[in-house]
Amino acid sequence: MALQSLRGRSAFSSGRAAPKAFARVQRTCRAASVVASATAVKAPSLPYRVGHGFDLHRLAEGYKLIIGGIDIPHTKGCEAHSDGDVLLHTVTDAILGALCLPDIGQLFPDTDPKWKGARSDIFLKEAVRLMDEKGYVLGNLDCTIIAQKPKLSPHKENIRNNLSAILGADPSVVNIKAKTHEKVDSLGEERSIGCHAVVMLIRKDIA
Ligand code: CDP
Ligand code: ZN
Repeated sequence: MALQSLRGRSAFSSGRAAPKAFARVQRTCRAASVVASATAVKAPSLPYRVGHGFDLHRLAEGYKLIIGGIDIPHTKGCEAHSDGDVLLHTVTDAILGALCLPDIGQLFPDTDPKWKGARSDIFLKEAVRLMDEKGYVLGNLDCTIIAQKPKLSPHKENIRNNLSAILGADPSVVNIKAKTHEKVDSLGEERSIGCHAVVMLIRKDIA
C-alpha cells in the first residue's frame, strides 16, 4: 500500500532519476519488512542486556538533596514531584531500558498524586522486581553524577552501599562517579544536577 501511494507521487512518476529512487525505497521497505517479520516471529532471549539511563533535575532552595537515598547536606535540593533522587531515577530507567520496558515516567506518571513526595527507592525496587520477573540479575552498574556542588566524594561510599542494598546487589558491581560541569550550562551554574548510568543484566541461567 505504501509503495503504491509513493509510486503515484510526482518524485517517482517523472524525471530520469525517479526509477532509481523508487528502487531504493523498494529495497529499504523490503529490508524493513524482513526485520519486522523476524522480530514478530521470535523475541530473542538475550544472555546479556545493556541499558542506559539519564536524568536531570532543577536545583532550588527549600528542597532536600537526596542522592542514592542518602541525605546530602547542601543549600539546595532537587525540584521534583517525588523526592527528586536523580541517581535512583537514572538507575531505574537504565534497568527498564535494558529490559525494553516503558520508562519511569510512564510507569509512575508525575501527574499521579500517589507519587507526590514519594521515595524513589519504590521506583527502583519495582524495576528490580521486573528484572527478576524477566529472568535477569544485575551484572554491573556504572553511574556518573554531574554536580558542580556539593563535593560528592565524601558521600560516595554511603551512596554506593545504599544503592547496592536497594538493588540487592554486591557493592563490588556498583560504581558511583561524580563530575563537575566545569561551571558551564545549567549543571555548571548550579541550577541543575544530572546523572547518567549504564547497566548490564545477565540472564539468570548463565549468571
Ligand atoms: O578533572 P575532571 O574535569 O575530569 O573532573 P572534575 O569535574 O573537575 O571533578 C574532579 C573530581 O572531583 C572527580 O573525579 C570526582 O572524584 C570529584 N567530584 C566530586 O566528588 N563531587 C562532585 N560534585 C564533582 C566532582
Ligand atoms: Zn528524576
